Amino acid sequence: MTILQFLTTVHFDHGARRELPALLAAAQVRRPLLVTDRGVMRAGVFELALEALPAGDRGPLFHDVPLNPTEAAALAGAQALRAGGCDGVIGIGGGAALDLAKAIAILSNNAPPLWDYCNRHALPKPIVAPPPLFLIPTTAGTGSEVGRSAVIVFDNGIKAGVRCPELAKAAICDPELTLTLPPAITASTGMDALSHCIETYCSPTVNPPADAISLDGMQRIFSHLGRAVRNGDDRDARWQMMMGSLEGAISFQKGMGAVHALSHPLGARGFHHGTLNAILLPHVVAANREWLGAKWAAIARQAGWGDAADPLQALTAFNAAIGIPSRLREIGVARGDLAAVAGEATHDNAHRTNPRPMAAADYLRLLEAAW
Ligand SMILES: [Fe+2]
Repeated sequence: MTILQFLTTVHFDHGARRELPALLAAAQVRRPLLVTDRGVMRAGVFELALEALPAGDRGPLFHDVPLNPTEAAALAGAQALRAGGCDGVIGIGGGAALDLAKAIAILSNNAPPLWDYCNRHALPKPIVAPPPLFLIPTTAGTGSEVGRSAVIVFDNGIKAGVRCPELAKAAICDPELTLTLPPAITASTGMDALSHCIETYCSPTVNPPADAISLDGMQRIFSHLGRAVRNGDDRDARWQMMMGSLEGAISFQKGMGAVHALSHPLGARGFHHGTLNAILLPHVVAANREWLGAKWAAIARQAGWGDAADPLQALTAFNAAIGIPSRLREIGVARGDLAAVAGEATHDNAHRTNPRPMAAADYLRLLEAAW
């Protein structure tokens, strides 16, 4: 049985942020909790995102967003929402802020622990009557604004998702909010988006509309990520990257693969999600190649490479051209952790949809190669 689901209402274009007041009014939100992180505030992007919303229409600010959002931060945010008398939530930022905003909206009206709602359970607890949630991405990477889960590091140390596909009232995708994103973050978040497009396209789940969307997304990213890294003011490149990121997340309902199965347990140890995915992607696609049939040639065509391109070489060169570190050890991953990470990857949901069946020993080989 195939289930196709494309849900979130998206307002997308340069300047789309100015629609926020009308969307809040339509949802009868008068005092939204504002969830963002300090970096977004320091960069002035938080104020830019809210420029159309008068101070009197804003609720309290919650900016305690960890690099990888945690169950504890979600609980603290939900307490801030209740203490502030808020009737809605706005998430502004990268994937961490948006996923945390989702988790806060869930816990505002649903009893903790958040783990009860996690998709690791066969029957997660249902989420009841969350307040209206609006998501405004300031990176072109996770696509969390249209993704169907909030990915959280739970109190038990596991990084996994809470499935909440109907949570967001609307997403506002305004590429102007990414114009000042520094090159290194543009590159690493952009590679998260590319890994979504590639991994979900390679997933064996049957979903032709999602395949078509992921191919379109990877073509946009292959063509524009280098431009956005080299010249942040390139408005067209920023627009294309934000669209590619959104397309990756719309299509990853097919499930992902070994890149994300590994980057979740590594991320639970405190490393940046997009950087991990970028480093792992060439190794994973190379390991999967024999299981991909005609799909690798289709991916290579989106990149403008010949059908005979070697995935390890081509994707490694793509990473290098945008300044991504080439090895896990360069970002501080300890070799002694690799065996445990390999074991944990076999429990991740993304493990089930990697095209090539993987065992812990296979994951360990990949990790050693990428280390
Ligand atoms: Fe991701």
